[in-house]
Amino acid sequence: MRFFLDTANVEDIRKANDMGVICGVTTNPTLIAKEGRDFKEVIKEITSIVDGPISGEVKPTTLDAEGMIKEAREIAAIHENMVVKIPMTVEGLKACHMCKVEGIKTNLTLIFSANQALLAARAGATYVSPFLGRLDDISMPGIDLIRQISDMFMVGDIDAQIICASVRNPIHVIDCAMAGADIATVPYKVIEQMTKHPLTDQGIEKFQADYKKVFG
Ligand code: E4P
Repeated sequence: MRFFLDTANVEDIRKANDMGVICGVTTNPTLIAKEGRDFKEVIKEITSIVDGPISGEVKPTTLDAEGMIKEAREIAAIHENMVVKIPMTVEGLKACHMCKVEGIKTNLTLIFSANQALLAARAGATYVSPFLGRLDDISMPGIDLIRQISDMFMVGDIDAQIICASVRNPIHVIDCAMAGADIATVPYKVIEQMTKHPLTDQGIEKFQADYKKVFG
């Protein structure tokens, strides 16, 4: 399983990219709004940091396929690595299909059922994004959905890649990897949490103390 960073914060993107652990970035309207910066400006900066798929979403106020495809063309024109994030609706599927015809890569977002993932894949989505944490939030085990989609895509020999989204903690990451996800898109905080173990810190302290006793 590979990692994307789920943020529009360029400082966090630089830090994760410097660690060499991420190969792409996903954004959404909430994450862009959080930065308070112009969409194109921030997306361009992200493409200059990470050389991999960068998801930029169509405006949340654009609900018709024609409007989505128009924005998709603009987003795709920003950089060759751009992937257009499109919501999983009937209009979104139409836009996804048109993008496929035009060679524009897509990430179908807000997926909460296996049927939605299957339809997105059949419409030509490059990536499908099931939201793990938001299902957990309403007491439906999100990981069951990831397993279901992963099994279904394997049995059906479906090419669309599964991006586990709405990942909230390190346990989610392990669960996604075990469930057969292609990618987990994670906030920087989760990457940081994954690096830590108390025995690593204790080990460093002991090595330092032992070394200093002899060598000063
Ligand atoms: C996915 O691409 C979304 O940007 C994101 O993972 C949503 O996460 P949240 O449910 O924590 O907002």
